[in-house]
Amino acid sequence: MKKLAINSPRGTADIYGEDIKYRDFINSAARDIFKIFNFNELITPAFEYTEVFSRSIGEETDIVQKEMYTFSDRKGRSLTLRPEGTAAVVRAFVEKKMFGPGNLPVKLFYIGNMFRYERPQKGRMREFWQLGVEALGSDNPVLDAEIIWMLNLVFKRLGFKNLTLLVNSIGCLKCRGSFILELKKYLENEKAGLCGDCTKRLKNNPLRIFDCKVPGCREIAQKGPGISEYLCGSCKTHFKDTTDTLSYLSVDFKISDSLVRGFDYYTKTVFEIISNDLESAQNALGGGGRYDNLIGQFGGPDMPAIGFAVGIDRTIMLMKDLGIDYEEDTKNIKVYLVAIDDVSKGYMLEILKLLRDSGIVCDINYTARSIKAEIKKAEKLDFNIIAFIGEDEAKNDSVTIKDLKSFKQYTISKNEIVEKIFEIAGRI
Ligand code: HAM
Repeated sequence: MKKLAINSPRGTADIYGEDIKYRDFINSAARDIFKIFNFNELITPAFEYTEVFSRSIGEETDIVQKEMYTFSDRKGRSLTLRPEGTAAVVRAFVEKKMFGPGNLPVKLFYIGNMFRYERPQKGRMREFWQLGVEALGSDNPVLDAEIIWMLNLVFKRLGFKNLTLLVNSIGCLKCRGSFILELKKYLENEKAGLCGDCTKRLKNNPLRIFDCKVPGCREIAQKGPGISEYLCGSCKTHFKDTTDTLSYLSVDFKISDSLVRGFDYYTKTVFEIISNDLESAQNALGGGGRYDNLIGQFGGPDMPAIGFAVGIDRTIMLMKDLGIDYEEDTKNIKVYLVAIDDVSKGYMLEILKLLRDSGIVCDINYTARSIKAEIKKAEKLDFNIIAFIGEDEAKNDSVTIKDLKSFKQYTISKNEIVEKIFEIAGRI
């Protein structure tokens, strides 16, 4: 029979080895911060009814127009692999009626894979991973500042130093209306320089020209009128209170009048964390904003909300490029049990059980090799300790362990081995 030669689909990745360590580090750093800010985890399905995304993200956006993985199930229902997390969280919030009095804002976080049919390139994939937060049920600008502060903290905790945090307000639906009229007027005169998609956007949704993938279109839009001049009194105050609180919390940020973000659901505060070490079309590591009308659109009460999402794959890529290492959990120590001869195999299993019962990560040599080869293998596979077991050890109820960091070797009795390993790991 002909052998199968199948690659993973374009724009997807198999994640293993070192990348898993980066992901564990990022996810656990983020989880710790989310919990400190009193957020709880929510897991939503990887696919939803198509409308969940098409109606909330916006019919004119690139995501809905070109990038959704949409299919019919066997009963002909239209489903879509989630291109982002916010709409699904709002759907769950409304469906499960999480908005009871007394528990607002509801603070949720998620970690999951997202799917967008984009042209794959460095930092842009068709299946990618996001971690994100959504706080639903408050329009207090302190919440805006807390969310932005939290995004900033995640990257600080990961060891990034030179990132820029951009913030802006795109106003409420009322004040955005007058801005869009002015923007349209300006863009009508610049029509010749716009791509085909943006010529259509000019008519239906000119804000989307700010996040067109064609750099020339973005440049044209950025040279036009700035939204800040069109904010109504209440949006202006909300933005000022947000930025004042950020300054009070010593969070560095830059106001960017041209930041509008690529989803229709946004209102008021929007923000993005970018790196100058990435190409401008994919330079955002994370971003988010307020979406004060979305819960109502989903049939829930009229309630404001705000959140952000971080691209995990892009963050790992940049950490590697910048030489930022992941931190391993120092409490985790890995022990490699090596049986030197066949006689001691039974005794080795006894030790293996003892260590695993004590919560120590350990593995065994399945094929006997020279001691030198075993040490090499242990180092390659990131073990911290080798425990040798031979005829002598089996006879004396002992184990010979070698700390692969200090290269010190000890022969200890069976009932002291767990304590000794904990001591080397710094747990006691
Ligand atoms: P977004 O800006 O579309 O926002 O995505 C957030 C992050 O996901 C981006 O900054 C980027 O790092 C990463 N990302 C997006 N697309 C790709 C891709 N094709 N390949 C690799 N990484 C990618 C949202 O998704 C909003 N739901 C954020 C939000 C939450 N707003 C309010 N709450």
